[in-house]
Amino acid sequence: MKDKLEQVKIEAVKAFASAKDETELEALEIKYLGRKGVLAALMQGVAGLPGAERPAMGKLANDVKSAVGRALAERRKELESAKLGAIADAEWMDLTVPGKRPPKGHVHIVTDAIAAVTEIFSRIGFTRVRYPEVEWDWYAFEALNMPKDHPARDEWETFFMDAPEDPKLGKMVLTPHTSSGQIRELKKGKLPIRMINISKTYRRQSDVTHVPMFHQFEGLMVDKDVSVTHLKGVLDFFAREFFGRGRKTRLRPFHFRFTEPSFEIDISCDICGGTGQVNHAKCRVCKEGWLELGGAGMVHPNVLKACGVDPEKWSGFAFGWGVERTMMMREGVKIDDIRHLYRNDFRFLTQF
Ligand code: FA5
Repeated sequence: MKDKLEQVKIEAVKAFASAKDETELEALEIKYLGRKGVLAALMQGVAGLPGAERPAMGKLANDVKSAVGRALAERRKELESAKLGAIADAEWMDLTVPGKRPPKGHVHIVTDAIAAVTEIFSRIGFTRVRYPEVEWDWYAFEALNMPKDHPARDEWETFFMDAPEDPKLGKMVLTPHTSSGQIRELKKGKLPIRMINISKTYRRQSDVTHVPMFHQFEGLMVDKDVSVTHLKGVLDFFAREFFGRGRKTRLRPFHFRFTEPSFEIDISCDICGGTGQVNHAKCRVCKEGWLELGGAGMVHPNVLKACGVDPEKWSGFAFGWGVERTMMMREGVKIDDIRHLYRNDFRFLTQF
């Protein structure tokens, strides 16, 4: 009996010490310490011993039971603290490690240029307005001194809407130029005027210098005794503030039906430095050293009359330039195809 008890003690202590988890531990507890377990059976054996042997064997059996119980309790404690340690390891974090920054975007370069144009003109008292992307023929052409079927209209390769005509205002079009904003502003009847209309415009065009949807900014100043000198001063101010002093501008006589006299305003090309040549080949963008920014002129008396403004009392100038082309001509921008602006290619957009 003594040997049996010693052997059970060694075997049970070893088994408890190597139990891998609580499930295995519980199974061992039932096997050795359960009501029908190994030790209970040995206790019964002790009870059946002759009286003289019983006390010593009973004491040994109790010692074995206590030792096995301690082995169980120790292993249980070990497994419990290992479990808590694993949870702590998984949850631990170093608050001093720098966080992962989300990628930072920026406004589109055209939006940025619109903000810059707005800001420059606001400094000389021009208020930003925006007029509809869809316009009536009357505002886009007729009130601008381009009667129906006039050949001058061809220049504005217009998208006509498949919509019912208005009996007075004619067909509906996608706004082909911001000059219709001149009419909308004049029709308000609030004089004098200093507006800068920056809006989306549409034409059926697509090549390295044309996109079907682009933006124009249209300036209109109407007051007493406004002359070409004021126009020149305002345009020079803008060119200096937007492009810097290093670039040259020029005024070319031109013809628009809604201004008289009319001009085209050009700026020296930044791609070829105004020479018209890149690596002994013609500059892809300008071809001759100059890039057209847009038109300008003194508001035609017929336009003022169409809007109920007396041309004997009031005079004004207007200009309309493309935002994209103007932005592309900024120093260092060097975009050699205007269509890149609207391709949504991140490799292009993230360069700015
Ligand atoms: C006009 O649209 C006139 N309304 C400008 C004007 C306003 C003249 C006030 C006199 C008084 P034009 O068609 O040239 O003019 O266009 C003006 C500018 O818009 C062009 O010089 C160019 O910078 C830009 N532009 C025209 N078409 C496109 C296009 N398809 N893509 C990008 N930019 C364009």
